Amino acid sequence: MFVALERLINLDEGYRGTFQVQGRHLLLIVVDRQPILMENRCPHQGAPLHNGTLEGTMLRCSRHGITFDLSTGCAINAPCAPLQRLSLAYDGDRVGLDL
Ligand code: FES
Repeated sequence: MFVALERLINLDEGYRGTFQVQGRHLLLIVVDRQPILMENRCPHQGAPLHNGTLEGTMLRCSRHGITFDLSTGCAINAPCAPLQRLSLAYDGDRVGLDL
């Protein structure tokens, strides 16, 4: 089942959108013109990531400063599990995910 999250026309560089799907908090973010969907939850201690600081493809969690490379999901400055990323799906003029 396709769950639409956003219209493609709205996915400008720097876009950030938060969604709740079946109880999961998700973050859709556009970096380098690529939409990336992930759990809006830092794998370190669970802080929301939508207010993190973005520099290039690096997203810095606002709670303890662990920085994740969005192109790989990996933490670059501390031992930490990677971001929980989800595959995007497309349907017409919408982006979302398949459940
Ligand atoms: S909760 Fe994100 S760095 Fe600790």
